[in-house]
Amino acid sequence: MLGASMKLISCCWKPFDGNADAGREGREGLLRFRDLGRYAGGDFSMAVIQANQVLEDQSQIESGPFGTFVGVYDGHGGPDAARYVCDHLFRNFRDISSGAQGVTCDTIQRAFLTTEDGFTSIVSDLWTTQPHLATVGSCCLVGVICQQTLYVASLGDSRVVLGKKVGNTGGIAAIQLSNEHNANLEPVRQELKELHPNDPQIVVLKHGVWRVSRSIGDVYMKHAKYNREPINAKFRISEPMNKPILTATPSIVTHPLHPNDSFLIFASDGLWEHLSNEKAVEIVQSHPHAGSAKRLIKAALQEAARKREMRYSDLRRIDKKVRRHFHDDITVIVLFLNHDLISRGSIQGPPLSIRCALEH
Ligand SMILES: *[C@@H]1O[C@H](CO)[C@@H](O)[C@H](O)[C@H]1NC(C)=O
Repeated sequence: MLGASMKLISCCWKPFDGNADAGREGREGLLRFRDLGRYAGGDFSMAVIQANQVLEDQSQIESGPFGTFVGVYDGHGGPDAARYVCDHLFRNFRDISSGAQGVTCDTIQRAFLTTEDGFTSIVSDLWTTQPHLATVGSCCLVGVICQQTLYVASLGDSRVVLGKKVGNTGGIAAIQLSNEHNANLEPVRQELKELHPNDPQIVVLKHGVWRVSRSIGDVYMKHAKYNREPINAKFRISEPMNKPILTATPSIVTHPLHPNDSFLIFASDGLWEHLSNEKAVEIVQSHPHAGSAKRLIKAALQEAARKREMRYSDLRRIDKKVRRHFHDDITVIVLFLNHDLISRGSIQGPPLSIRCALEH
């Protein structure tokens, strides 16, 4: 359960992969990393940097008989929703997909909605003692590789970018596979207006109150009964809420993996604030696999420092919480795609379960 039993400590890797050559893992100040590991379809690299007082990003890689599952959860308002998602979304996905139909867009969507329902019932149970849970939420980006198909499901503004070989001169293209749902994007504003035809203020009005149009949690914007005291007045929406403002239904795309698809970069919004898709792909492409995720985070931090006309070495000395003025929590997972392994199917790979999550 969330709440009283939840002692916020720190991020930790919880690997279970029985891999001796798990690659270097460690931390440098607020940065934690796993330079290199193996999943069923090749190598991976993973890193997270904390900026908030309490880390709000959570992430995981799971691989097993169903294939490979990657999750990046970018919490807002606190870590609780992202933490809940990290504890439940994969399990729900596994339970729902274990039936005869296997992995489909529908089973992935149902896993999201089951997770949303579970979190909403916790908010309901704890409403009298922990009403702030009604105002926390999480963006969720999930990638599933199953039978040579990649499924990408997303709520919010995390992003996955594919590095794909093109031409015969060693060129590589950066292809964004996820849709984003952030009210600073015109198509998202349009979508909100279409969903709420009777509320012309829907986008303008909420400007500055929230940024993403889809999430797990944020139940005060989904159910009118939580849009009231005792939640903090700054969250409360004065207009009547005839239907949910936010949705937990992910956008899902499928991508048949091609032998030229080299790697996937999954990252929370904090990375993409400072690094373009092309730059990120170029960095991964032009260096060894080991340390890729950490290298991307460092490139983003260098850019964040440059924007503020400060030295990277000075930025590194700024502690969490104050750091948030310079950049957000950033999570990066790079999956390298070994098509020999992927075409053989994942049942042969070792089971893997690795998480960067708050300790219980
Ligand atoms: C795949 O990569 C090779 C070598 O880089 C290239 O010649 C070919 O055009 C690529 N195929 C596609 C479909 O992109």
